[in-house]
Amino acid sequence: MVNVHIHQFAPDGAVVDANAMEQFQKQWGAYQKLVDSDVLSHQAAGATLHQVLAGISRPFTFLDIACGDASLTKRALAGTKGSHYHGIDLSEPAIELAAKMLDGVPYEVDLDHEDFVTALEQRPEPADVVWCGLSIHHLVTADKLELMKAIRGATGIAFVLYEPSRRDGEDREAWLRRFLGAQEPTWTTLTPEEHQQIVHHIETSDLPETAADWLDLGRKSGFARATQLFVDPTDGLRIFRYDV
Ligand SMILES: C[S@@+](CC[C@H](N)C(=O)[O-])C[C@H]1O[C@@H](n2cnc3c(N)ncnc32)[C@H](O)[C@@H]1O
Repeated sequence: MVNVHIHQFAPDGAVVDANAMEQFQKQWGAYQKLVDSDVLSHQAAGATLHQVLAGISRPFTFLDIACGDASLTKRALAGTKGSHYHGIDLSEPAIELAAKMLDGVPYEVDLDHEDFVTALEQRPEPADVVWCGLSIHHLVTADKLELMKAIRGATGIAFVLYEPSRRDGEDREAWLRRFLGAQEPTWTTLTPEEHQQIVHHIETSDLPETAADWLDLGRKSGFARATQLFVDPTDGLRIFRYDV
C-alpha cells in the first residue's frame, strides 16, 4: 500500500457524535449489505459525484468526510484529474476497508481515523472538492450548521453532500414512515436481526432536514451557491452541491 497512509487520531480527541458512531460500528456489516445491494442508490450517487469531478479540468484534491469503505468515491474519482484523496472516518473497520479499496489507485491517499468535527476544525488548508455521504444527518440542526461552516473553510471549489431529506412541509415522523415504507421491502439481503438494527438506528438517530433547509444551511455556512443535483427513487435521499 505505498500510496495509502493511515493516521490515528489522538486518544483524547473529542467525539461529538459518539452514540451514532458506536451504533454504526456495530452495524457496519448490515450497512455494507445495503451498499452492495444498492438500495440506498450508491451507484447513482457515485455517478452524480463523478459528473461533478469530471467537470474539473486541472488536478484537484479531494476530501471524503466519513468515507466508510470509500467504494463510492473510488468509482467517482476514476478517470478524473483527482490527484490526492483524504478520507476521514471514526470507524476502524471502515478505515481498514478504505485502505484496501484504495490500494494502488493512481493518486496519493491519506486516511485519518478521527472524528470529522475535530479533523475539520484542525485542517490546515482547503481541499478543492469535499464530499460527504450519509453521515451528518445524525447531528441536530445547529451542529449541522457549525460543521458546514467548518466544511466551508475546508472547501476550495465545491462541497457535495448526499443525505436523507424530508420533503418540504413533511415532519420527521412522516418522513420516517414514508422512507421506511419504501426502503424496508428492498432489504432482502439482511437477516431479521440486521433489519431490526437498521430500523432502530434510523428511528433513533436520523435527523433529516427538508431539501429547502439543507440548501439554506449551505448558504448560511457561507457558500455562494446551493443547488440540488439528485433525488433517489424513494424521494428520501438527495444530493446537494454547494459552491464557494
Ligand atoms: C452511513 S456510513 C456512510 C459511509 C460512506 N460515506 C457512504 O456513503 O457509504 C456513515 C459513516 O460515518 C462514520 N462516522 C459517523 N460519525 C462520525 C464522526 N463523528 N466522525 C467521523 N466519521 C463518522 C461512520 O463510521 C460511517 O463510516
